[in-house]
Amino acid sequence: MASSTVSRGKVAAATTKDANAAPASGVQEKGVTRREFLYYIWGASLALFLAEAGGAVVWFALPRFRAGEFGGAFGLAADALPKASVTTPPVLNSAGKFWVSNTDEGLRALSQVCTHLGCLFKWVPSNNRFECPCHGSKFTNKGVYIEGPAPRSLDRFALTITYADGSTKTTDAEGGPVPSANAKSISVDTGKKILGKTHG
Ligand code: FES
Repeated sequence: MASSTVSRGKVAAATTKDANAAPASGVQEKGVTRREFLYYIWGASLALFLAEAGGAVVWFALPRFRAGEFGGAFGLAADALPKASVTTPPVLNSAGKFWVSNTDEGLRALSQVCTHLGCLFKWVPSNNRFECPCHGSKFTNKGVYIEGPAPRSLDRFALTITYADGSTKTTDAEGGPVPSANAKSISVDTGKKILGKTHG
């Protein structure tokens, strides 16, 4: 009986010892230690900081223009457009740096800058065409190259017309004209330039 009591005491002592012992080598404890937790917090803070810094750089790097400022959108009044005709002289929008050309084909916003070396060409009514004073390049009122050293027709800006029925139409990728009949409002995007067609 005494021997049995001693044995049970040894077993109980051994069990208590095993329970208090450190885990065997190679066996990981479950859960996160205080050090790991701090690492996670630090990593998350760093990621958040980098994301915010990247967003700020993109925000300041992207150009932003207000309406009515070159590089932004210009609204044109439909009733102030030149009459749609082959012979109607284009009208200069100085602030937007484009000529409004409204021919029988439709409306175009032609860049004011010559496609040769960047001079500002003029409309010459007596010849019914644009002529560049620098080296003599000439273009029709549709912006099409006629002669001179310019390598291509006039560049143009994309425009969108909203019609009386609520529909809209925008300049195509080629920079073609947009019909102006029944136009209600026009917006010219001077931030979107379409290069004129090359020739020869
Ligand atoms: S800059 Fe216009 S023709 Fe040369």
